[in-house]
Amino acid sequence: MQVNTAHAPERAVSLSARRSGPLTGRVRPPGDKSISHRAFILGLLSVGETRIEGLLEGDDVLRTGAACRALGAAVERLGEGRWRVRGRGIGALRASAETLDFGNAGTGTRLMMGVTGGNGVLARFDGDASLRKRPMRRILDPLIQMGAEVRAQADGGRCPVLLQGTHEPAPIEYRTPVASAQIKSAILLAALNSPGQTIVIETEASRDHTEKMLAYFGAEVASVPERESGRRISLKGRPELQPAPIVVPADPSSAAFPLVAALIVPGSDIVIEGMMMNPLRTGLLTTLQEMGARIEVLDCRSEGGEDVADLRVRASELKGVDVPAGRAPSMIDEYPVLAVAASFARGETRMRGLAELRVKESDRLAAVAAGLATTGVASTIEGDDLIVSGSAGRAPGNGFVATHLDHRIAMSFLVMGLAAERAVAVDDERMIETSFPTFRALMTSLGAQFA
Ligand code: S3P
Repeated sequence: MQVNTAHAPERAVSLSARRSGPLTGRVRPPGDKSISHRAFILGLLSVGETRIEGLLEGDDVLRTGAACRALGAAVERLGEGRWRVRGRGIGALRASAETLDFGNAGTGTRLMMGVTGGNGVLARFDGDASLRKRPMRRILDPLIQMGAEVRAQADGGRCPVLLQGTHEPAPIEYRTPVASAQIKSAILLAALNSPGQTIVIETEASRDHTEKMLAYFGAEVASVPERESGRRISLKGRPELQPAPIVVPADPSSAAFPLVAALIVPGSDIVIEGMMMNPLRTGLLTTLQEMGARIEVLDCRSEGGEDVADLRVRASELKGVDVPAGRAPSMIDEYPVLAVAASFARGETRMRGLAELRVKESDRLAAVAAGLATTGVASTIEGDDLIVSGSAGRAPGNGFVATHLDHRIAMSFLVMGLAAERAVAVDDERMIETSFPTFRALMTSLGAQFA
């Protein structure tokens, strides 16, 4: 199996985007990253053959594929986006002597900590400079409660982490301290090998792909509302997972880039095909519609168990809005590009409750504010809120933005460059490979100009 980073240049590669003519055409963004990780993982945990179509072949997901291989699965590429996994089954993973190197991928690392932590495997987790800064205690704490043991860790529970999994994870009831699908998923994946029932309670619902895919593979998993906007998820341990074919819909977090680009580049009119419309992922769409975006949702249908639709997006005059904190889990990865949309709006946009942005691939709150300052857009951070002063369509640009090994910071500011008065450059485009390897080609096909 190839892992693309083998060919990635060692040094930063800058890229610049400049004011482009109207964006036009139809595009299909790559497969959803969250679902792609889970497809490999459930393939590993079921006995037999899992076929995957439309997998995101970005570095993050390929690293999860490589980890599944290290734990004993046969992982094969059959064609573009088409993969086959022959799994080992719950409780039957192979110990891996090699370090599981997840590169830039927090999701792969955390979900796999759940897998190895509940399957009696000793595994060493590591990654790049960005991953080494990210908090892992939030995953290790519940796994320790279940019986796993942390043998080594860097300061504050960071990678590299050496984790000894337990062969018999204790069933627990766990209230997640923050709305995080990664925490919930790590617990559920560990709990698959537990002799009892495990319950995870979240006060704000986070994306539910793990629960949905587990149910699709035959596990007994139930999710019921908890208070106003939370969920209580219960899973019965030791199911026999039955492999089932997976079709991966287009990633709304990647679709966000051509979507915002078409809104802010005057005269644009594009169609984004096959975008996943899972309501726990569509907060950006709701917000942009409140801002006055002309987005038509066409041909709603179901593909591979998820709602999908095509979106017709036309250049729009946006107005500033107040984005409630409760919406954050459904658009957590989209705030950088929303901040770019807000830069072109009329009036002020306040995005509330963004504490979790500080622990993503970079400190995104700081990185976005710094990027906006560099490109002549006024913004302030008040507590956990970001406030952006819109330019009513005339963001100055003309900046060189630091991306801090963060793919979404790079793509967001390149999108800004397509509509700003002067070009916007980012210091490093290499990380775009982790989630959206076809970003430049796809955007260029719509008329975007990069140099
Ligand atoms: C993801 C969950 C989110 C998101 C990440 C992918 C997932 O993280 O930011 O890109 O696939 O479970 P949190 O759930 O920790 O907020």
